[in-house]
Amino acid sequence: MWSSRWMFVLAAAGSAVGLGNIWRFPYITGENGGGAFVLIYLVCIALVGIPIMMAEVMIGREGRQSPVNTMRGLIQQHHQHRGWVLIGWAGLLAGFLILSFYAVIGGWAFKYILGLAGGGFTDATAGQATGTFDAFLSRPWEMLFWHTLFMVVVVAVVSRGVVKGLETAIRWIMPLLFVLLAVLLGYGVTSGGFGQGWAFMFRFDWDALTDRALFEALGHAFFTLSVGMGAIMAYGAYVPSSVSITNTVVTIAVLDTVVALVAGLAIFPIVFANGLEPGQGPGLLFVTVPLAFGQLPLGALFGAVFFILVSLAAITSAISLTEPALAYLVEEYNAKRSRVAITWGAGCWLLGIGTVLSFNEWAEFHIVGDMTIFSFVDYVTQNIMLPLGGLFIALFAAFALPKSVLGNQLGLTGPVARKLWLVLAGLTAPLGVLVVFLVTIIGLESVKAWFAG
Ligand code: TRP
Repeated sequence: MWSSRWMFVLAAAGSAVGLGNIWRFPYITGENGGGAFVLIYLVCIALVGIPIMMAEVMIGREGRQSPVNTMRGLIQQHHQHRGWVLIGWAGLLAGFLILSFYAVIGGWAFKYILGLAGGGFTDATAGQATGTFDAFLSRPWEMLFWHTLFMVVVVAVVSRGVVKGLETAIRWIMPLLFVLLAVLLGYGVTSGGFGQGWAFMFRFDWDALTDRALFEALGHAFFTLSVGMGAIMAYGAYVPSSVSITNTVVTIAVLDTVVALVAGLAIFPIVFANGLEPGQGPGLLFVTVPLAFGQLPLGALFGAVFFILVSLAAITSAISLTEPALAYLVEEYNAKRSRVAITWGAGCWLLGIGTVLSFNEWAEFHIVGDMTIFSFVDYVTQNIMLPLGGLFIALFAAFALPKSVLGNQLGLTGPVARKLWLVLAGLTAPLGVLVVFLVTIIGLESVKAWFAG
């Protein structure tokens, strides 16, 4: 059990705030042309992400076991179809797949702690920062080393059990990360590129909106909130009954969104001030941030601290990716937590080698279209598995659980509040997912044409 409401907020925020906010959000915003993408992402957080996150915490707290067993228990208790348990199983698979590449990028963050501490970026030009990153990507053994180290750290932490490790770590990681992002933001404001960066993120140009941007914005909303695979459900199992789910979830979502927006507002001015390409892809964070710190006084020190914090934020997120699986295996087989953690971690590590090689030796090996192993795993998990998982989680919470559970868990006593929740979880969230899927299948161009008559 978390020791207080605040501890759960910190743990869930620790799960939510991670590479998704600081690395993934800026780079996919860049790839998808900015403004319209950001707006859709925000709408998806509010109308789809938040209700689904509430559903996850509620289901977890009602079942009080690992997601698979929580689903089994609730299905039995309320005489629902056994197929619902797939929510649990699909979540284990999604967590496994996501961690496989998450650990590789976490490894990049580790590498950049040393890279900055060494002073290699002091007064570097944009060309030098880009060159350093590209050179790193071309060295698979070095990437494998950092990938391995990241996985070892995660396994070591989760072997001890989540609560102890997390509670102490998160207390100071999050506030510090915030302070350093603010420093970067301050730099962005004075860099000369702020106006352009701001416009890039917040000017909505509907014509620039593409199917892909729509689809990715939805997928990213799930990814950044950690919902759709049971991680929050697993954490929800440890939430004291007195805690208000609604307040807590909204707090976490706001925190998560603010971190992402601040990261974007810090990074895009650096991009424009230095003539870099916003759509350059996964390297965006690792080129812009070292560049900025390289021009700041004590930049080597603060830059290293920044990447330490990014690494820690990545670790607290990675921990939550393992929790549904570890909790299940420990429960079901009465296994030792450390043994389960090592086996699971080893499997993720092995698959992660595919991501390591996607950036060099196997860059030309495509699974479908022009997707490398990395982009394929990233795409299938974020854009398909998480939204589908979330869709069924919302439907289960809204329609399979009796109204009394709803009332008790969410503290929704009034008929108005209850209706509102049912509309959000039973209607807007599932519909949001379905509409985005449909539009992607039909093609946004035809939809636009149809509306235009
Ligand atoms: N939300 C984390 C991030 O933004 C990643 C993450 C942790 C996650 N747990 C998850 C994503 C569960 C999806 C599902 O970095």
